[in-house]
Amino acid sequence: MISIVVPTYQEFENLPPLCEMIQTALADFIAAESLGYEILIMDDNSQDGSIKKVQELANTYPIRLINRTQNRGLSPAVIDGFSEARGDYVVVMDADLSHPATAIPEMIRQLKTGESDFVLGSRYVEGGSIDDSWTLWRYINSVVATLPALPLTKVKDPMSGFFAVRKADIPSANELSPIGYKIALEVMVKGPFKKVSEVPIHFVDRIHGESKLTFTEQLKYLRHLRRLYQYKFKTKAEFFQFAAVGSSGVIVDMTFYLLLQIFGVSHTLARAISFWPAVSWNWMLNRLITFSHREKTAKTTQWGAFVFSSLLGFSVNYGTYYTLTTFVPFFQEHIILAFIIGILMGMGFNFSISNLFVFRKLREEVDSESKRRHSK
Ligand code: GDD
Ligand code: MN
Repeated sequence: MISIVVPTYQEFENLPPLCEMIQTALADFIAAESLGYEILIMDDNSQDGSIKKVQELANTYPIRLINRTQNRGLSPAVIDGFSEARGDYVVVMDADLSHPATAIPEMIRQLKTGESDFVLGSRYVEGGSIDDSWTLWRYINSVVATLPALPLTKVKDPMSGFFAVRKADIPSANELSPIGYKIALEVMVKGPFKKVSEVPIHFVDRIHGESKLTFTEQLKYLRHLRRLYQYKFKTKAEFFQFAAVGSSGVIVDMTFYLLLQIFGVSHTLARAISFWPAVSWNWMLNRLITFSHREKTAKTTQWGAFVFSSLLGFSVNYGTYYTLTTFVPFFQEHIILAFIIGILMGMGFNFSISNLFVFRKLREEVDSESKRRHSK
């Protein structure tokens, strides 16, 4: 059985042509493969007559409406649809006729033969296209939004909302984050998919009703991306952010060091004082950015721990510098290299300490990591 999950909000005019399009596209295929199908309308309590419309359509088509009154939104609606689905294969598509149902047989065929584990309806592979009415501006927008998602997947159209997977491969609801509009990307990154493929589609602009994609949704997309990076690259993403924060801290350090001297403070004392604003700056940004997903321990305790570990890092830095410039002739000639190596050593040390002890992992994070390790 194929379950077609369709998130809807005020799509009542599109429901009849949607059913007709699906029925026509699937008729031969499901007969040949002796498969059944169901259409799951995941509606957020639309008051436009959608409920009645689905009741009418249910006389002709295998359609079900799930009326949602809590936790509204496109992604949560789709995630609920996953648990409602009775089929072995799950297709997600928009209701507004943008996604051609004619692509579904090929999507299911690839899943069935094992040619693919995740099939995406794509506008940007050969044979795919976008609506003629698209302005250059809209196209540029789409491309700009697509670029930062590319390191997460290998597909050409990671923004697409049209995809098919085996039900068994869908991550459980509590593993999926319902933030934002890009549920295909979410599933693709978090699911166990070895082979991901794209089938070309011609994306048609909606005729009835209007798009619900607001500016706020687009901002959520940035948050969503950051989480997916965090998820996929884990410690690598953290280390990168930690390094970026650290570099900005060097600037803070430098600024205070120089300013204090302008005000007549001796350079040794300035060096000792400037460590404090810099280390506090780093701690604050790491709390807000690098380790924002970690447990929120009390600020003063955490700051103390961070300062303490930074002092250790600083001694590693200084120790490295001192050792190299005192005992290694090469570095006696290239003290600036020793200086850089010292900073890097101190930074690596700081990161390990912060990562292990200062910004403690959340319980669930530790659990899911060990679970993943066991399942390998
Ligand atoms: N249940 C529910 N709740 N459904 C929603 C909601 C919501 O809050 N918001 C939107 N939908 C439904 C719409 O009714 C429609 O069936 C589908 O989700 C897509 O919404 P549109 O408003 O038509 O989105 P779009 O055309 O701007 O975006 C689509 O195309 C993009 C690529 O251009 C989506 O498929 C995006 O995921 C995709 O990135
Ligand atoms: Mn649309």
